Amino acid sequence: MPDALQLLQTRRSVKPVDLVAPAPSRAELDTLFTVASRVPDHGKLTPWRFIIFEGDARCAAGDKIAAIFQADHPDAKPEHVDFERTRLARAPLVVAVVSRAAPHVKIPEWEQVLSAGAAAMNLVHATYALGYAANWITEWYAYDRRVLDALGLAPHERIAGFVHIGTPVRPSEDRPRPPLAEIVTRFGG
Ligand SMILES: Cc1cc2nc3c(=O)[nH]c(=O)nc-3n(C[C@H](O)[C@H](O)[C@H](O)COP(=O)(O)O)c2cc1C
Repeated sequence: MPDALQLLQTRRSVKPVDLVAPAPSRAELDTLFTVASRVPDHGKLTPWRFIIFEGDARCAAGDKIAAIFQADHPDAKPEHVDFERTRLARAPLVVAVVSRAAPHVKIPEWEQVLSAGAAAMNLVHATYALGYAANWITEWYAYDRRVLDALGLAPHERIAGFVHIGTPVRPSEDRPRPPLAEIVTRFGG
């Protein structure tokens, strides 16, 4: 298990197509969700939940995505529709992080949304801590209400991310990170 700070300093996303089996086991999934749900949550509202896509269920979800894509693009080439069908089947495991943020008398909705982002990031870090890799993406279907309905989301629920998880086939290249001098200031009073 890598040292925590080293893991945080070196983690980088791996493309969904570069994530292969094995995926985390059932016991490891419990660890992932335990970590993902251990995030700051103003008001203890649990304003997020998780949906696991694995095995054939990934393609069943893909069928729904492809059907909606085809309805909007009746002239699409079959290979394009087939690609839409495999959206959630590129990696062996996909976890949808669902935001359940809703208006509340005391807790701003914005803070509930941020908590879902924290849950997604904890899920990603825990994945790497277990020796796997991940990619947090959304893509068009995360924003299509018909797809969200078909995946079982309630009308107020939204996708914070589809976190793709698996074993990396190759290390991915790092990307430039923002220079600290550009993003960190010290308040001068
Ligand atoms: C909320 C959210 C949604 C994202 N959606 C996409 C996406 O749809 N497609 C994509 O290529 N990258 C998307 N990304 C970016 C990927 O996570 C990208 O691989 C990542 O920024 C690389 O960062 P890293 O090098 O620190 O791992 C998204 C990131 C976030 C936070």
